[in-house]
Parts: sequence; C-alpha cells; structure tokens
Amino acid sequence: MSIAQTSTARLLPGAPVAEAVLNDVRSRAQALRDRGVTPSLATILVGDDDASAGYIRIKQRQAAELGFESPHAHLPADATQQQLHDVIRAFNGDPAVHGLLIQYPIPGHLDYGEALMLVDPDKDVDGMHPMNLGRLAAGVPAPVPCTPAGIEALLDHYEIPVQGRHVVVLGRGATLGRPLSILLSQKRSTADAAVTVVHTGVPNWADYTRNADVLIAAAGVPGIVRPEHVRPGSVVIGGGVRYQGRRLLPDVEESCDQVAGAITPRVGGVGPTTVAMLFRNAVAAAERAAAPLGRSGTHRAR
Ligand SMILES: NC(=O)c1ccc[n+]([C@@H]2O[C@H](COP(=O)([O-])OP(=O)(O)OC[C@H]3O[C@@H](n4cnc5c(N)ncnc54)[C@H](OP(=O)(O)O)[C@@H]3O)[C@@H](O)[C@H]2O)c1
Repeated sequence: MSIAQTSTARLLPGAPVAEAVLNDVRSRAQALRDRGVTPSLATILVGDDDASAGYIRIKQRQAAELGFESPHAHLPADATQQQLHDVIRAFNGDPAVHGLLIQYPIPGHLDYGEALMLVDPDKDVDGMHPMNLGRLAAGVPAPVPCTPAGIEALLDHYEIPVQGRHVVVLGRGATLGRPLSILLSQKRSTADAAVTVVHTGVPNWADYTRNADVLIAAAGVPGIVRPEHVRPGSVVIGGGVRYQGRRLLPDVEESCDQVAGAITPRVGGVGPTTVAMLFRNAVAAAERAAAPLGRSGTHRAR
C-alpha cells in the first residue's frame, strides 16, 4: 500500500501581499486626486502578441480600479525603432503621465535596451532603466525593479526575516537575481541579509542552496530546483518561470514542498506581487511629480 505524500510546507501566496500593497496605492492615489492630480501609468505595446495584449488589459483594469489614468499606445508589429522612440518621447514629455511601461517582449527587429534608455528614469515604473539600477546599487531611493521588490514585500508580509540570515539567489539576471541580491543586502530591517548569488559559473551551486535559510530561484529553468537542493525547513521562493505557450513552468519542482518549511505556490506566488509593485512605483512617481521641488532643486526620489 502506498501512502500519498501531503504537503508539509507553509504556502506563501502572493495575492494577500499584493492586496496589502494595492490598498496602500489606492489610498495614495486618492490623496493625489484630492489635490487635483490623477496618477497616470502609460503603456506601450508593439505588435499583436496575445499574451502581451492580455497583460496590458490586466494592467489597464487594475489602473482603472485604483483610480489611475492609463493612456495606451499600440504600435503595429512592423513599427520602426524611430516610431517607438517617438511614442516614448511623447509620453516622457507629457506632464500628465507619471509612469511609463514598454510591454516586453517587443518584436525581434527592435532594440528593447535602446528604447528603455530613452524612458525618463523618473517615469520608469519597471525600475529597469540603467540609471535606476545604478541608483539601486548606490543606495539612492529610486523606482526598484518590481519582481525583486515584490519578493522583499512577500517575505516581510509573512514575517520571514532575512536580517542576518543566509539568502541564496540562484541566477544573476538583470531582471531578478542581480537587483534582488543588491536589495536584500541593503541596510534595512526587511533586508540586511547575507546574500550569496550562484549561477552557471558555480557548478556546485547546490552546495550553497543546501545551506540557505532562504532560497530564491531566479534562473528561468523549469524544475532546476529539486528537493535535494533544499535545506529541510528552509524558505523557498520561486521567482523564475518559463512559459510554454500559456503554460507556466516554474524553476521550483513541486515536490520541494515536502522539504521546505515555507514555499511560494507554483502559480500565484511572486507574480501578483510584481504587478502590485508596478503600481507602487507608479504612484510614487506621481507623488514625486506632484511634490514641490526640494531645497536642492531636485524632487525627493520616493
Ligand atoms: N514571476 C514574475 O513575475 C517574474 C518577473 C520577472 C522575471 N521573472 C522570471 O525570473 C527569471 C529570471 O529573469 P532574468 O531576466 O533575471 O533571467 P536571465 O537574465 O535569463 O538570468 C537567468 C540566470 O539564471 C542562471 N542560470 C540559468 N541556468 C542555470 C543553471 N543551469 N545553473 C545555474 N544557473 C543558471 C543564469 O546564469 P548565467 O548568468 O551564468 O548565464 C542567469 O544568471 C526568468 O525566469 C523570468 O521569467 C519572473
């Protein structure tokens, strides 16, 4: 007779975290509207990819629910780099637009990095402009990349302290692993961790993950984290995913929940917090734009 295994790990869904963040955003947006400023998050979509169009619709629905304006530019799949730049410049120059997002991916003949460089860093709600990554590294307040910020918020929400603990991040990509490693090593009560970053240059990476208090998968390699890579009782956060059509393939194998003490669900873990952080960055951008100039002549960053 075989006995079915049951999940032992505490689940850490992202929805309650996102809800708490969005409640805060909603009241900040209301406070801005009370002062006559309607926060505005502009989006740019190039081409007709169904999934991308779907993500834009989700963001627009969320924007409406939070009381944001959401101007949108849809360029055809054969748009030129120049046309994309023209739209970015128009949103950059519009004082009523506080945040700007280029839906990724864009068609292969276009250069996303070049387009991103053109986005006004103060409107960069993805926090991915090199200026903002630099501000993050320098410890200067700025829009923070959304997925890393969402993971910090998730750990905080579930009262999982990382201060003084060993956090191992599997992956050093610009979207997730690299900024997350900087964020969680900063001097702050919700961070302050001893962070180790492992990647393909560390073939024995499992020696590190097996010693982690908190393991964060950020590789984008389905099933790369297996139970034997997890320290019993530790916390496992699944950030990396790959899509096969509409099917989501997480980095963390399902059976890791038999070893971990707490774990994000395979679906609905980090994703919802990423979207919430986008709106947190957007409302902060609107607050900065609406604030009077400081004594130094610059706006306070957050
Ligand atoms: N859940 C969400 O809302 C959300 C949002 C954004 C991103 N993501 C996901 O986060 C993941 C990371 O994004 P990214 O842009 O930072 O990725 P990336 O630039 O592709 O980086 C992936 C990293 O994983 C490492 N890696 C890949 N295969 C490995 C292996 N076999 N062994 C050890 N390390 C390996 C790579 O090492 P090398 O540097 O040595 O190549 C690289 O550092 C992606 O899956 C992305 O879809 C999720």
